[in-house]
Amino acid sequence: MFLFIVAIVVPFVFALSIIFWTLKNKISPMPSSLSMRKTFFKSLDLDFTGKNVVDLGSGWGHLVVGMAKKYPGSRVTGYENSLLPFLFAFFLKGKLSLRLLWQDFFKADLTEQDVVLCYLCPYSMKKLAPKFLKELKEGSTIISLVFALPGWKASRVVYANDLYKSPIYFYEKNGQT
Ligand SMILES: C[S@@+](CC[C@H](N)C(=O)[O-])C[C@H]1O[C@@H](n2cnc3c(N)ncnc32)[C@H](O)[C@@H]1O
Repeated sequence: MFLFIVAIVVPFVFALSIIFWTLKNKISPMPSSLSMRKTFFKSLDLDFTGKNVVDLGSGWGHLVVGMAKKYPGSRVTGYENSLLPFLFAFFLKGKLSLRLLWQDFFKADLTEQDVVLCYLCPYSMKKLAPKFLKELKEGSTIISLVFALPGWKASRVVYANDLYKSPIYFYEKNGQT
């Protein structure tokens, strides 16, 4: 009976949970590709020391853990509401200094964040655009993999070396209306 639960019921519940959160969030927990992450990290020319960095929808942890590894002087947080990816990210995290929160990022207070990372979908970007205008401080940076932020003017766009030449958008809060 115990083996049955472990072999069948647990994976089934996890699969259901992934499906549930994918439908609710309108996006699956697909991690950013290695090629996107390589371009992303190569294009960063900011000094992250002492900065608050947040990944909205940190998924399995690939981007947020990479960030904490590369910039140990920054304070990195990941918000994720899908349970299985959220739990998995703790394995990737290991002993890194990094905050992982099981929470809906639309309900998060972003007023203290200096850098916001997103790899989401058009639905979330549209909902986030006014939240960023309202909550983010002047001078903060938003970096969005693949999906543009509606109504915002990107200060820079770089392209990943993948089949789709996936864009990575950089936005500065300064001067956006
Ligand atoms: C495409 S994945 C990106 C994962 C990660 N940032 C990366 O680059 O590998 C998007 C993640 O956002 C999460 N997500 C979507 N809407 C969310 C919300 N409102 N609150 C918390 N997480 C959310 C999804 O569950 C999914 O895991």
